[in-house]
Amino acid sequence: MAVTIRHLEEFDDAESFDCGNEPLNNYLQRYAWTNQQKVSIGVTYVAIDEAASHTVLGYFTLATSSIPRDKLPKKYVRGLPPYDLPLILLARLAVDKRFSGRGLGHALISEAFKTILRVADDVGCRCVITDAYRDKAGWYARYGFIPVEGAAQDGPQKLFLDIRTIRAALQHGKQ
Ligand SMILES: CC(C)(COP(=O)(O)OP(=O)(O)OC[C@H]1O[C@@H](n2cnc3c(N)ncnc32)[C@H](O)[C@@H]1OP(=O)(O)O)[C@@H](O)C(=O)NCCC(=O)NCCS
Repeated sequence: MAVTIRHLEEFDDAESFDCGNEPLNNYLQRYAWTNQQKVSIGVTYVAIDEAASHTVLGYFTLATSSIPRDKLPKKYVRGLPPYDLPLILLARLAVDKRFSGRGLGHALISEAFKTILRVADDVGCRCVITDAYRDKAGWYARYGFIPVEGAAQDGPQKLFLDIRTIRAALQHGKQ
């Protein structure tokens, strides 16, 4: 299967998309295009099977945000000023369950990392944050994501990944 990852387009077909999580399906089907195109609060990238063009197999959404410096582990913020730190929010990431376990999640997060590094080079951002479902935190940990200190004990698990970790991994061809 030849997969392309690119920006969401207006006539991409997400109607049959099913990652097994209704809020994530619903976001892609109802809100992703508006949020990207009309109100500019998040950009969605989709994985498309080139043989079945416009059918979405998986997606992720990026936005900007910030976090108080003292929410991150001390070793990652040593020497930084006492400001809220700019970051990229990995707001959503999902793969259609019919295609799970085939490396699509890896391809999507790798693409997200490349985009995030470009932003960090052009604008400045310190880390990536995601609010992960607790049963998926192990999947993010494979990429080096670490729990944010003082985050809520229930509900989604707030995780972060330092920009330097991504840069080092990409330079060593690990992502
Ligand atoms: C999480 C998700 C994106 C992973 O996508 P995927 O395409 O199935 O993942 P990949 O094929 O790239 O990776 C599969 C690998 O991750 C491992 N893995 C899967 N879930 C895991 C978990 N919860 N913890 C640790 N490892 C996990 C698999 O064992 C497999 O390992 P292997 O490569 O050594 O065989 C996908 O399961 C999904 O969309 N889930 C529903 C939506 C969701 O929960 N999204 C995350 C929101 S926080």
